[in-house]
Amino acid sequence: MEITVMHDFALKIIQEAGERIRQSFSEKLEIETKANANDLVTNIDRETELFFIEQIKSYDPSFKILGEEGMGEPLDSLEGVVWIIDPIDGTMNFIRQHCNFAISVGIYVNGIGKLGYIYDVMRNDLYYAIQGQGAYLNERKLEHLRPLPLHEAIIGVNATWATPNRYIEHEKMIDLVHFVRGTRSYGSATLEIAAVACGRMDAYMSMRLSPWDIAGGAVIASEVGAIVSNLKNEAVNLEKQDTFIIANPEIHKTIIEQYINLK
Ligand code: IPD
Ligand code: CA
Ligand code: CA
Ligand code: CA
Repeated sequence: MEITVMHDFALKIIQEAGERIRQSFSEKLEIETKANANDLVTNIDRETELFFIEQIKSYDPSFKILGEEGMGEPLDSLEGVVWIIDPIDGTMNFIRQHCNFAISVGIYVNGIGKLGYIYDVMRNDLYYAIQGQGAYLNERKLEHLRPLPLHEAIIGVNATWATPNRYIEHEKMIDLVHFVRGTRSYGSATLEIAAVACGRMDAYMSMRLSPWDIAGGAVIASEVGAIVSNLKNEAVNLEKQDTFIIANPEIHKTIIEQYINLK
């Protein structure tokens, strides 16, 4: 399968899915909880995932699909062409803010990231990358990240990191928060990853992300020279949940080695 043909198809269905989500604001939203009271899902998350599955399967039934809402078939391996989809990343923002959420799609062939997309639906901003051909924000090619010292960095980190928690020594995190230029927290992992890829932010980390939070962004990251790994500096594994960091190459190792000591 020609990668540019698949890219054209992916672009078409991502934009169509975005349009359907925008239209959905005129309908009543059905909200349910999943693992806990703050873990929300809506009928639109599910309908969007189903839309992707129907479109992709009618395009090529051999393509495999891994989606957050589990509407595809279970994935046994990353062999073949695998679409990894978060139909709405930032569901809480989708519900409460009607913005700051994204559709994320990563297309992998035998485990290698070929195409990556993060679509900021309400801003109509599409971040995407084709392996070996660079990354883009809409028509603009994204530049390779320039090195910067940690004290000039803006890092994406959730406020709970600087409070006592069971994962890290939070005192070190307080040191980091004081040392860097600033912190941000957007509530959508994929938009935070996109922000690092285009240099608006210099690192983003999470205690627990899933393959669909990372798959699209990892392809974009590698085209701009951002480093992605788990918080033990091991390669990202798209078959399980794990800790996560994306950072400017200049500060990636320092953050992990000097500030994060996983308990
Ligand atoms: C969540 C968001 C959130 C991040 C969570 C994710 P969802 O994704 O990206 O910012 O902190 O870890 O699970 O559930 O809205 O797709
Ligand atoms: Ca979710
Ligand atoms: Ca989601
Ligand atoms: Ca998500």
